[in-house]
Amino acid sequence: MRATIQDIRNMKQTGEKICMLTAYDYATACLVEDAGVPMILVGDSLGNTMLGYGSTIPVTMDEMLHHTRAVVRGTRRAFIVADMPFMSYQLSVEEALRNAGRFLQEGGAQAIKLEGGRPVVSAVKRMVEVGIPVMGHLGLTPQSIHQLGGYKVQGKTPETAMRMMEDALALQEAGVFSLVLECVPSQLSALITEQLAVPTIGIGAGPDCDGQVQVVHDILGLLTDFTPKHSKRYAELGEATKQAVSNYLQDVSNGTFPTERESYSMDVGLLAALHGSSTSGR
Ligand code: KIV
Repeated sequence: MRATIQDIRNMKQTGEKICMLTAYDYATACLVEDAGVPMILVGDSLGNTMLGYGSTIPVTMDEMLHHTRAVVRGTRRAFIVADMPFMSYQLSVEEALRNAGRFLQEGGAQAIKLEGGRPVVSAVKRMVEVGIPVMGHLGLTPQSIHQLGGYKVQGKTPETAMRMMEDALALQEAGVFSLVLECVPSQLSALITEQLAVPTIGIGAGPDCDGQVQVVHDILGLLTDFTPKHSKRYAELGEATKQAVSNYLQDVSNGTFPTERESYSMDVGLLAALHGSSTSGR
């Protein structure tokens, strides 16, 4: 039985911290769920981590659906949130609704996430009205990176802090079941968390959010060239993978892999008969 939005909401009531982690493929989703993570985000950060794009902007609906299906196939208990990619919800409420519906119908997700405040409120309302759980996302919204002028902390001036607070309340009013706050000063996210009845999930937003989300590649050290300030490496899987692959390469090159242990053998009688037939034909 999968977790539900009620389970997530209850966690705020009881003060239990909510842990969310991204996953983009079947194997990782199996591992993340087995570790006990109740909510998995199929983030459009897959544009960076899985597809090698320089940002999330090129990510398409087809790519998001492909990865969402893989994560859903790898899980039975986790609540799966799929990220709506850039331009899949900005053109009209109708198109936003159609695309959100595809994540539940074709992707098998339980909820969608989208970026932005008051400009997306009418789309959020419509989605919630038809039964699609929506997670909001404020602060550093990577799909607006060209407008924000870089990956910077948001809400540091009185105007931007006030705007974020008002956007958060507007999203709650529209019906979001939770809200991601990305790269927001800890004090501001603590204030927003206090003001909202729905849980806040922070990434680079300090310890006082109701929950935390991280990009799985960051916490596992899979991409060795960069770790954001707000992340922490719990493993060095990038280095471990390079070492393992290098050992394999060495074994193949010097003939020490495979051995008999990793090989299959056949019936000796059949082998003798094969030898016989191959020599009798000469
Ligand atoms: O795409 C993503 O991984 C996200 C998280 C950073 C919240 O939106």
